[in-house]
Parts: sequence; C-alpha cells; structure tokens
Amino acid sequence: MAEELRIVLRNYGVIDPLKIEDYINAGGYKALEKARGMGQLAVIDEVKKSNLRGRGGAGFNAGQKWTFVYQAAADQKYVVCNADEGEPGTYKDRIIMESDPHRVLEGMAICAYAVGADKGYIYCRGEYPYVVDILKQAIAQAKDKGVLGDFDIEVRMGAGAYVCGEETALIESIEGKRGEPRYKPPYPGVSGLWGKPTVVNNVETFANVPDIIEKGADWYKSIGAPSYPGTKIFTLSGDVVNRTFVEVPTNTTIRDIIFGFGGGIPGGKKFKAVQIGGNSGAIIPESLLDTPADFDSMAKVGATLGSGAVFVMDETRDIVDVAERTAKFFEHESCGKCAPCREGTMRMYEIMQNINQGKGKASDMNLLERLGRVMSTACLCGLGQAAPVPILTTMKHFRADYAAKVKE
Ligand SMILES: Cc1cc2nc3c(=O)[nH]c(=O)nc-3n(C[C@H](O)[C@H](O)[C@H](O)COP(=O)(O)O)c2cc1C
Repeated sequence: MAEELRIVLRNYGVIDPLKIEDYINAGGYKALEKARGMGQLAVIDEVKKSNLRGRGGAGFNAGQKWTFVYQAAADQKYVVCNADEGEPGTYKDRIIMESDPHRVLEGMAICAYAVGADKGYIYCRGEYPYVVDILKQAIAQAKDKGVLGDFDIEVRMGAGAYVCGEETALIESIEGKRGEPRYKPPYPGVSGLWGKPTVVNNVETFANVPDIIEKGADWYKSIGAPSYPGTKIFTLSGDVVNRTFVEVPTNTTIRDIIFGFGGGIPGGKKFKAVQIGGNSGAIIPESLLDTPADFDSMAKVGATLGSGAVFVMDETRDIVDVAERTAKFFEHESCGKCAPCREGTMRMYEIMQNINQGKGKASDMNLLERLGRVMSTACLCGLGQAAPVPILTTMKHFRADYAAKVKE
C-alpha cells in the first residue's frame, strides 16, 4: 500500500478515537480555530476554490452548497452529516467515524461556522450501533473541552432503509416521519430540516474539510484529478485478494485499485467485471479498467463513481444473476412514493427473473431498455433513477451472457 495517500484516514490506527487529546495532539481542531479567524465568507471561498465535491455520490461542489445556506435569510440553519452508508459494499464512512470521529465533528463545525448554523445532526445507519456510541462519546468530549463553541451536534439513528440515505428522505426521517424523498426543488439548502436552510454532506466530504482549511485550496487542488481533486476512499469486496479499503488520489485508475492495491483476482482466475459505486453502480468490463476513478472520467464512459464501493467479479460469476440480484434489491428498497419506481422496480425484477430462469424472450431486452429509460427520467429520486443502471450496463457490455439465457 506504499502509494496510498492518506488525508482523510491520516489518523487511522494512529490515534485512539475515543481520546480527544490524541486528536488534538495530532493537530486536530486547529483548522476550526483558523476558520473562526478567517471569517465566514473566506472559509466558504476556500472550500469552493478547493473544488471539494461531495463524496456521497452526486459529486456536487461542497462550497457552492454552503453558499446557498449562507445566503439564505433564516432564524435557524442546520448542518446534517449523512452517515447512512446504505450502499451495499460500502464501508468507508464507518472506517472514518470509528477511527477518527473528531475529524467529522471538526468538518461539521467548520461548515456550521461558515454558513451560520448552531445545530447539527449526524444521521447514522441503524446497523452501526457501535459507531453511534463512538460518535456520542466524541461529541461529549468535544462539548466538555468547549471546542465546538455554541455548535450543538446530535446523533440520529436510521432504521435500515436504503432510501433514507437520499438527503430529503433522510431529513423526513430526522423529523420523525416515514423516510420518503421530497419533491425538489426546493433543495435542502433553501428548505431542508423543518423547512430551514440545511447543508447535507457525506461523512467523507466533511472529513476532508479540516485539511483544506489548514493547508489551503491550492494544496488540495494539486492532488488527484483536477475536476474532482483530492483523494477517494474505495472499499473492495468480492473476488479480489485484498478485500480492504484504500485511500488514493482521484486520478488512480480502476485497474490500479483492483490489481495494484487489491492484489488482483484470487485462485488464478480471470477478471470478468466490476461494479463501482454500490448496487446502483454500473457494471463494467475489462476494457474500461484504465478509466481514472474520478467522477467525470467515470461519467464519460457511462459509469458512476457513487460511494466508492468496488465489487469485483471473476470469470465464474453469472452476470445475469448478479443483475437480477440488484433488481431484487431495488424492488425491496423502493419506498413506493412514486409510481415509476414502485411499479418499475417490480416489473424490472420480474423480467430479470424470467430471463435468468431461461423463460425470457428477446423482446424482454427491449422492454428492459424502455423501462430503464422511463425510470431514469420519471422516478422522483435517485433510487429509481439509478435502479436500471446495473441492468442496462450489463446488457450493453455483456450482451452475450443475456443472449445465452434468452430463448429466441
Ligand atoms: C437512494 C439514495 C441513497 C443515498 N444514500 C446515501 C448515503 O448512504 N450516504 C450519502 O452520503 N449519500 C447518499 N445519497 C446521496 C444524498 O442524497 C446526497 O447527495 C448526499 O448526502 C450529499 O452529500 P455530498 O454532497 O457530500 O455527497 C443517496 C442518494 C440516493 C438517491
């Protein structure tokens, strides 16, 4: 792992996450102090200039998002940390929070200072109860030390719904309602938690902020791909020797991640495919492995960076079966609020089951393509919009695998 570049995970395994003194001795909370001396606008400008883009999937410029909330006139503003991490195969936020929780708190506090918020929430998935404990202890220590000033942070636990990672469903859930996405606009920056301007950022996004403030936007921009600078944490799973996490500059190729850091395919088998970004990610073949793992390069080849999950499949994997499993996942996780997703995910799963069981027709492939197009444009939120991605990308790149299962 010699070429790994740890910025966000710099303190991983080095400090005791449950001792605030360890974080402070490692330089922690200095950036927050510096930010307070810079002034709100200068902090936002620095983050904007660094081109830090959201690490939760959508890749939106964080400083730009903060600007909306800063500019909004309101008696109350909120900062929300999205720690729902529901994307299968993704565990980067867990690694950050359990190894260095104060880094996340510091990133949130810098944001709160910049946008003028005095209340924050960390929405953590219910499957991470021990992470919730760590966060609560860290918040108590930070309050005791007085480092957060008048910024108050609370932890809220999800109840295991994938859709609650979607920022507006997450907001509904914090408000105590059923987790269903809202119509957008208005976006949370204008009307978020309890109708107030709200920043929602991912754990990894916040964890980048202290270093950006401390070392400056120019330093940050010099790392990785210019259009998506910095590092990205990838979590490897499936048919790969090292099922682990790795933090690398964003211009690292998928091939280097799988064959360099990941150690390649075990058992002398050949590579077949990789799904990047969790269940909603594209499934791509060997020919696209030299794509740099940054947001825009991935988009150019019709793929997604998503959460940074890297699910590797060797030559023995049945691609149609994999695609059917993703369809089953979305059919189960659709919240049912909008018809294109509620109905579309069910029909998609049915058609995939038929094809996988050898009962499919050639026309089913056209039907899947049409249904996929409708869902990607008509569904209310990213869940339904992205649900067809694994199916459409496998139909494109692994057509022969489908042809072998379809009768006509
Ligand atoms: C179905 C669905 C699930 C999502 N799950 C997560 C999640 O678990 N964690 C996350 O940070 N973002 C998730 N997102 C993205 C959020 O809606 C939002 O874009 C993100 O929290 C913004 O933070 P960022 O700009 O720092 O990435 C999800 C989106 C969708 C549509």
